[in-house]
Amino acid sequence: MSGDQAPQQERGSIVSVCDVPALGLCGQVLSAVEEPAEVLGQELIAPGIYRMRLRCPQVARQILPGQFFMLRSLDRTDPLLGRPFALLDIVRDAAGEPIGLDFGYHVVGKFTNLLSQCAAGTVLDIWGPLGNGFAPVTSGHLAIVAGGIGQTPFVAVLKELLGLERYGEPTRSVSGRPSQITFCYGARTKNLLAGMEWFQLPGVEIRVATDDGTAGHHGFVTDVLQRLMASANPPTTVLCCGPEPMMRAVQKLTVPAQIPAWLSLESPMACGFGACFSCVARIRQPDGSWDYRRTCVEGPIFPAADVVFEADA
Ligand SMILES: Cc1cc2nc3c(=O)[nH]c(=O)nc-3n(C[C@H](O)[C@H](O)[C@H](O)COP(=O)(O)OP(=O)(O)OC[C@H]3O[C@@H](n4cnc5c(N)ncnc54)[C@H](O)[C@@H]3O)c2cc1C
Ligand code: FES
Repeated sequence: MSGDQAPQQERGSIVSVCDVPALGLCGQVLSAVEEPAEVLGQELIAPGIYRMRLRCPQVARQILPGQFFMLRSLDRTDPLLGRPFALLDIVRDAAGEPIGLDFGYHVVGKFTNLLSQCAAGTVLDIWGPLGNGFAPVTSGHLAIVAGGIGQTPFVAVLKELLGLERYGEPTRSVSGRPSQITFCYGARTKNLLAGMEWFQLPGVEIRVATDDGTAGHHGFVTDVLQRLMASANPPTTVLCCGPEPMMRAVQKLTVPAQIPAWLSLESPMACGFGACFSCVARIRQPDGSWDYRRTCVEGPIFPAADVVFEADA
């Protein structure tokens, strides 16, 4: 991510994308807020992978499963731009009020390195919630396919579907739930299967794959999906988040089989609310051609059938 201009926002205010009416983005980010986010703590959950807890009541009250937020350091200008992270789950106080959120992150570069050194009490800059989020899946066999750190958005997805947590302001009500849920989770090796315990939820069947065979299926998590698709009760909906080659493989399996699938893209982003166009992805148009769409406002979740990966363009 290269450093240019920091996004123009006022602290604690509505993100002002409506000042750009030609973009027509108001429906997507009208309610996004910026607030100081105090680090309440963090823990190492796998090599190079952390779970961090932030106090940020305004964002926590509104955020939906699959949405994301941007984080930036308040006392450093390097890196200058914010970085996007997905909601893992919201945190409530003793009275049941949302006071903050948890997210998981993988240390890959400048900002995530900085995050890993943040002690409790450090205050960061957060803005969100951003993006479209996952629509609740209320029937059929839901298969979730996650790779690497791409598993984190599905904690909130599952808790909402199972009636274990409620999200959004006003609170989103979900009527109905899938008759079967299979969570397929892949990593390079066993000790990188971070947060497995979060998915041990009633009614969720977990299937694991590792590239080196140290846990579960020896091979790709998409092999697990392929087997599931050949079973007596194949998935009727697939949600997916993870490395691009994995999402492309999920697309190649689900689209010909006409199984509705949604991919959560992790395009690098600079502003998160539609102003800079640094996050564009190629998205299929109704006439069969493709055009660029901003992952931060029109995504990050797109129908698998509409995504045109670079390798296929
Ligand atoms: C909607 C969304 C949600 C995300 N949620 C999470 C999350 O919950 N947890 C998490 O760990 N990460 C998540 N990411 C990815 C995360 O934003 C990047 O890992 C982060 O920005 C890296 O910042 P950095 O300064 O540490 O790395 P940088 O110093 O900016 O980059 C380090 C290396 O990583 C590469 N890189 C940076 N960003 C990306 C990216 N998005 N995709 C592929 N390569 C990249 C760079 O090209 C470079 O090679 C998400 C991304 C998006 C778009
Ligand atoms: S990140 Fe700026 S337009 Fe998407």
